[in-house]
Amino acid sequence: MTYARIVVGTDGSATASIAVAHAAALAAACGSELLIVTAFQPNHSSTAVEDVPEDLEWAVTDSAAAAQHVADAARLASEQGVRPELVHIIAEAGDPADALVGVAEARSADVIVVGSKGMNSASRFLLGNVPNKVSHHAPCDVLIVRTTVR
Ligand SMILES: Nc1ncnc2c1ncn2[C@@H]1O[C@H](COP(=O)(O)OP(=O)(O)OP(=O)(O)O)[C@@H](O)[C@H]1O
Ligand SMILES: [Mg+2]
Repeated sequence: MTYARIVVGTDGSATASIAVAHAAALAAACGSELLIVTAFQPNHSSTAVEDVPEDLEWAVTDSAAAAQHVADAARLASEQGVRPELVHIIAEAGDPADALVGVAEARSADVIVVGSKGMNSASRFLLGNVPNKVSHHAPCDVLIVRTTVR
């Protein structure tokens, strides 16, 4: 078994960073390529984030914020020992799970890594929508990193 190509999703949250660090450590250990994906909602790019209720914040991640999230994650990956030439960043408009599954399909990835919770980690659900949907549609292995305390 080898993971030659790993896809990881981040929404820029602290909990998602745990998933990125985990994916990067796996990539460093296996010498894998690491594809870091952030999906954003383009229609709300002009809305001020402060004006939006916390549970809708995911919907106002604009392309500039998304670019920042993937850049931050790429830096984290280098710190974990992944060679920079093996790190690729992808900021894509649309649904996060569709983006992750789409990239995994297009690039024949071996595993998708996501956190169990993201930006809405305060919600009462144990599992976020993204890992739930990814686990149903992934063309490859899925690693759900537990990013909150039990
Ligand atoms: N916009 C996104 N782009 C890429 N990956 C994402 C995105 N949002 C979430 N993820 C991935 O999914 C994981 C879980 O986040 P998710 O959004 O499912 O949970 P949540 O924000 O806590 O709850 P909710 O289901 O209400 O959004 C994150 O740690 C991250 O790995
Ligand atoms: Mg979310």
